Amino acid sequence: MQHLFPRTPRWERALVTGASSGIGREIARQLAASGVDLVLVARSGERLDELAAHLRAGGSGPNVEVFEADLCDSEFLAAVEARLASAGAPVDLLVNNAGLGYEGPFHIQDAQEVSETIDLNVTALVRLTHAALKPMVARGRGQVILVSSMASLQGLPMTAVYAATKALITSLGEALYEELKGTGVVVTTVLPGLTRTEFHERGRWDLDRWPSVGWQSAEEVAAEALGAAARLRPEVVTGRLNRVLAAMSGMAPRRLRRSAIGWSARRRWPDEGSP
Ligand SMILES: NC(=O)c1ccc[n+]([C@@H]2O[C@H](COP(=O)([O-])OP(=O)(O)OC[C@H]3O[C@@H](n4cnc5c(N)ncnc54)[C@H](OP(=O)(O)O)[C@@H]3O)[C@@H](O)[C@H]2O)c1
Repeated sequence: MQHLFPRTPRWERALVTGASSGIGREIARQLAASGVDLVLVARSGERLDELAAHLRAGGSGPNVEVFEADLCDSEFLAAVEARLASAGAPVDLLVNNAGLGYEGPFHIQDAQEVSETIDLNVTALVRLTHAALKPMVARGRGQVILVSSMASLQGLPMTAVYAATKALITSLGEALYEELKGTGVVVTTVLPGLTRTEFHERGRWDLDRWPSVGWQSAEEVAAEALGAAARLRPEVVTGRLNRVLAAMSGMAPRRLRRSAIGWSARRRWPDEGSP
């Protein structure tokens, strides 16, 4: 396995949510390659077991715990919080990666799917961050990675709830980075753009309406996320093109940005928005 992120981190044990596929799986794989012990969290226990067996490399790899949990379920969420709070085998890197987002007009979205998006992207992420930070601050060391999105940078028609949940994550990460200065604990927020994973199929995105250029692999995003955390950065937008777009968007007045995004959405979904 390649060691893809630049500096040898001091992490001993990482808990990664959404480790069964995509970016989370790659983060777990790259951490294992540099000898970090892991706690893998997701709903698909079988996929986690297979990954864990692979990462343990027949006993020569790191120690890997599997934690099958639906983070939208309050009992499972409390159990993962308890794992983060436990003093035995402490977690010194929390990777809050599990997330989902459905595409489509907000007013006809399934109400259950709207709740699920908020439960996973917001409630679970905030609660797990909260559970991890208390022991980390008490120990005077620890790191949290929050996987947000480029979608957090502005309201996005047709993925409105998803973008709003990610805006909360980016805001939370920015605030906590400053709030925790001097404690030995660092929060790094990661803003990927379009990345080839299972995400779009799960959220029923129509990829014909989205750009076909500028996509990253999960491996690239994971390496940039871990690299930024190893360098104790507050935030990273992954991918060169995404960084250019984020910088341009940051310079544009909010009103202009909103109009441009609305215009682009109306062109891509000409059949939506009228009664
Ligand atoms: N792909 C992109 O273009 C893109 C762009 C920007 C940001 N992101 C962000 O990157 C993160 C990872 O997404 P991905 O692209 O790697 O998508 P993915 O391949 O769909 O992975 C999502 C992960 O979340 C887990 N998950 C989903 N619901 C869960 C639940 N209720 N409880 C526990 N785990 C759950 C899934 O595992 P189980 O199904 O086994 O539970 C899976 O491991 C997300 O936060 C996403 O918003 C993705």
